[in-house]
Amino acid sequence: MEFKEVVKARYATKEFSNRKVSENLMNELKEIIRLSASSSNVQPWRIKIVSDSKTKELLRPVSMDQKQITTCSHLLVFLADIALNKRIDSLEKLMVKSGSLPASAKSFNDNSRNAFGNLNTTRKISWASKQTYIALSNAINGAKSLGFDSCPMEGFSPKDYHRILKLPNNLIPTALVTVGYAVDKQRSKIRFSGKDVFI
Ligand SMILES: Cc1cc2nc3c(=O)[nH]c(=O)nc-3n(C[C@H](O)[C@H](O)[C@H](O)COP(=O)(O)O)c2cc1C
Repeated sequence: MEFKEVVKARYATKEFSNRKVSENLMNELKEIIRLSASSSNVQPWRIKIVSDSKTKELLRPVSMDQKQITTCSHLLVFLADIALNKRIDSLEKLMVKSGSLPASAKSFNDNSRNAFGNLNTTRKISWASKQTYIALSNAINGAKSLGFDSCPMEGFSPKDYHRILKLPNNLIPTALVTVGYAVDKQRSKIRFSGKDVFI
């Protein structure tokens, strides 16, 4: 499917069938997500993938009882990683391994620490969360391009997800993407016209 067709065909699925997305397709989706762009390439995200029914049952009541949580094949929990200096240090090493000059990688590290590493926690969460939405967007379009459906979701309690999934303090649940094969049908898209969007 051409990208334009993918964007038109994907929709926020409200209920999935019990058909599982294969491991191969999930691996392809993970690769699409992994390659997402981010500001200064810091990639301040982790994605927890939940596929066992027991955990999904625990998560549904803290997700506004939405059906997608228990009917999906896989639930992707997008986490903002606010241990930014750690991420920046790892990236510096990766840059050198990938052929960057050590001096440029060091300068990248200094600049990124200045720009993001010194933010207070609230601003770190805000900045890192914005980046995770770029990966989320790739996930929903990526799923459709691979032949299955998805729903981006913010209707859940980040605090309860943190507790149930036993996450470390630096990982902040930001948004979800449930994936699987839809049983509902796409509704017509309601979008502002071009003149109300582009100024
Ligand atoms: C960040 C984000 C959070 C959303 N949260 C939910 C949600 O919790 N539950 C839900 O059913 N749909 C959710 N949606 C889906 C939107 O309602 C949907 O994308 C919008 O109405 C446009 O419809 P379409 O995606 O089917 O074209 C969310 C979408 C986004 C992008």
